Amino acid sequence: MKAVKVKEDFYWVGAIDWNVRNFHGYATLRGTTYNAYLLIDEKVVLFDAVKQGFEEELLKRIASVISPERIDYLVINHIEPDHAGSFLKVVETVKPERIFLTRNARLGLLAHFHKEDFSFEEVKTGKNIKVGKRSLTFIETPMIHWPDSMMTYIPEERILISQDAFGAHYATSFRFDDEVNLCELIQETAKYYANIVYPYSSQVNKLLNTVKELGFSIEMICPDHGVIWRKYPEKVLQLYEKWSSNVCEPLVLIIYDTMWNSTEKMAYAVMEGALEEGVDVKMRKLSVADWTELMAEVLYARGLILGSPTLNNGLLPTVSGFLTYMKGLRPRGKVGASFGSYGWSGESLKILNQYLQEIQAEIVHEGVRTKYVPDENVLAECVKMGKGVAKRVKELCSA
Ligand code: FEO
Repeated sequence: MKAVKVKEDFYWVGAIDWNVRNFHGYATLRGTTYNAYLLIDEKVVLFDAVKQGFEEELLKRIASVISPERIDYLVINHIEPDHAGSFLKVVETVKPERIFLTRNARLGLLAHFHKEDFSFEEVKTGKNIKVGKRSLTFIETPMIHWPDSMMTYIPEERILISQDAFGAHYATSFRFDDEVNLCELIQETAKYYANIVYPYSSQVNKLLNTVKELGFSIEMICPDHGVIWRKYPEKVLQLYEKWSSNVCEPLVLIIYDTMWNSTEKMAYAVMEGALEEGVDVKMRKLSVADWTELMAEVLYARGLILGSPTLNNGLLPTVSGFLTYMKGLRPRGKVGASFGSYGWSGESLKILNQYLQEIQAEIVHEGVRTKYVPDENVLAECVKMGKGVAKRVKELCSA
């Protein structure tokens, strides 16, 4: 296992996890990587570590260019266990002279490992330290992804080591964006944003402004997952700008499930109406849809139309489960409406509308519900509702 040279004296020394398929609920169908980077200057610096169980891979890759004991500084950009799970083992082997991290990272490591006899040095945004010909500038990025998070910029190389941000759960034998299929990479990057970064979009917006204010000129972005952006760093910055500003596309998602096909009949009538407006419409039935993939579609969609029958005074569990997940990821800037069938109590419509209110969606129709099986009048109202949502989606997307 060898290090991969990124630039002169700067190496990727991370680990590839080909087999992980569930990352705290995120379906990582293409596996992932835990990236760590090594800078060899007058001081030797290791940026981040790897998930517990991958430390041997990390240390072998480091050893392919320099003895791990030669490392002087450790920079901990993020303490989540997929990066800092190997912290104790790495520190025990490397015995770094100093460990740079934020205050929240120090407190977080203490809460994980219940030890603090390390040579920590807390840093804040704008702090710069010389490590020889080069220097490191730190930038705190709380909540991208955890309160402890920060990034490190190497001005002399124009490299931004961005921890989770700009990353993707994407295991590949290649290390750079120009070596992989770009569509596949963007798809995985969008999925990562939608399932990990989405709730912190306002912090991403602030970060992008801070990067501009600090005058960072970025040639290369080195995230802690996926590949290094060396050819398309501008592309991923633009995507983050778009996603964090809730810029959506003329796409309507009809997200529903059905018990005895009544709600499904309504879903197809809603689709018919939306299609009359010429927008893209996708049917997503929650008994078969993958939540992780669906969130990436939610990221792009301006329209969200929700459907569920009433079951035991509530929603079908497939629907309530996904909507709870989606609500936590805080999508914004959506246009929506709801529908569903019922037998006697009929609460589903009200609950679906509450979910739309909680994500601050603009509700453009009061919703359609039907007792047992929809008749022609109900289906006609569903068509009208689908058309109404799509019309508003078109107006907003062309504004
Ligand atoms: Fe890749 Fe928030 O850890």
